[in-house]
Amino acid sequence: MAIHQMVKYFLKASCFVASIIFLAAVPGLPPHTTFPTAEFNVTLPRELEGPLAINKLLDYADHILKNEINGPETIIGRGDTVYMGLNGGNVAIFKKGLVMPIFQIGKPCKRRSFDEAVCGRPLGLAFDTKGNNIIVADAYYGIWRVDLKKYRKTLLVSPKQILPGKFINRKAKIFNGVAVDSKGDIYWTDSSSDFTFEDSVLAGLTNPSGRLFKYDRSKNISTVLLDELFFANGVAISPQEDFVVVAETGGMRLMKYYVDGIRTGESEIFIDGLPGHPDNLTPDENGIWVPLVSSADKNNPSGFAALSQSPQKREFIIRLLTIFEMPFKFVEHIIPNPFCKYFIHFIGHSKMFSALLPKRTTIIRLDWNGNIVGAMHGFDGSASMVSHVYESGKELLLGSPVNRYVTRVFLKVK
Ligand SMILES: *[C@@H]1O[C@H](CO)[C@@H](O)[C@H](O)[C@H]1NC(C)=O
Ligand SMILES: *[C@@H]1O[C@H](CO)[C@@H](O)[C@H](O)[C@H]1NC(C)=O
Repeated sequence: MAIHQMVKYFLKASCFVASIIFLAAVPGLPPHTTFPTAEFNVTLPRELEGPLAINKLLDYADHILKNEINGPETIIGRGDTVYMGLNGGNVAIFKKGLVMPIFQIGKPCKRRSFDEAVCGRPLGLAFDTKGNNIIVADAYYGIWRVDLKKYRKTLLVSPKQILPGKFINRKAKIFNGVAVDSKGDIYWTDSSSDFTFEDSVLAGLTNPSGRLFKYDRSKNISTVLLDELFFANGVAISPQEDFVVVAETGGMRLMKYYVDGIRTGESEIFIDGLPGHPDNLTPDENGIWVPLVSSADKNNPSGFAALSQSPQKREFIIRLLTIFEMPFKFVEHIIPNPFCKYFIHFIGHSKMFSALLPKRTTIIRLDWNGNIVGAMHGFDGSASMVSHVYESGKELLLGSPVNRYVTRVFLKVK
């Protein structure tokens, strides 16, 4: 090798190393997170045996409303009407085979996937117990009450509000799950106070900053019940309303928080070591449906869980990605354009992390003691990335943040 070539390689390598050191070590660069990046533990996934034993109950699933909808993340229903929160910001009804958008918390927008912060993103829906309303958690716009006659929207919790934390008060950035008790008070979750839903991959790399709140309807005030949850997501209220269960998507577990009785204010693990990341919870008298939006097992650990013990690596990746996004965000800010949006979207929502995961789709049935009653698995991809389970007669409708259809399967466990 000629000497000048060696010098060139040397310069290139030093430039690379210098950039890495710069990114990893220079203080004051992003991320500026709520909690310092430190080590924490996520319980390893359980073996797929006993009630979790492998089956193929989610194979050969049907797709309904194919290409008529996009990303039905949350699905609830009453009588013959199903309500869905869609990618693009709409809440839509599905009735007698037809789908129709009924309202949007955000603003109408063209490039629905990339303008998420403008369109809004309804991630959580619950029927109100006081009046004919639906309660909506829109990731970007907060918690809203919408009457189901005229679709008038009333803001309950604003993203501009400084909300209480256990130690640090701060705004919510990803409004995600909602559940309404019989008095009309609302349990709701904020998944992260560091990144928005568009950057949910980054939110999964910071130290957990998710919260569970109780919104008091008469006072219009939210109090914090749990803090530092690893991507707080779905919420379920127990039949006796003595405790609530909250999903920690990143932590692959569910937490239980007592709201009545002698243990009021205490919390404990409801179930951990789930073989994947739980999303919205669907409670009924006998238990809870828990969908896993992505899977993990001992041989294919979740990247988020695996990195929980490597704070430096996480900080480095977050820095790298946020700094990478910066010029695109800047250009997009001045000249809105699909290319930059796409790029930001790609980094934030990144599928980069899903390539290594097991190709298994799983939904789990729990009883109210946190025991697994059964599980339905699929391996042929016809059911995938399930974020919500809606049970209707002998059918299950499965929602997903990414699919352009609703998945339908027949109920075989329980
Ligand atoms: C994580 O678990 C390991 C092994 O059980 C333990 O030594 C360590 O202290 C735990 N770390 C935290 C932050 O709890
Ligand atoms: C509740 O309080 C928030 C924050 O101050 C406010 O934006 C909202 O309009 C209030 N909603 C109601 C129904 O009073």
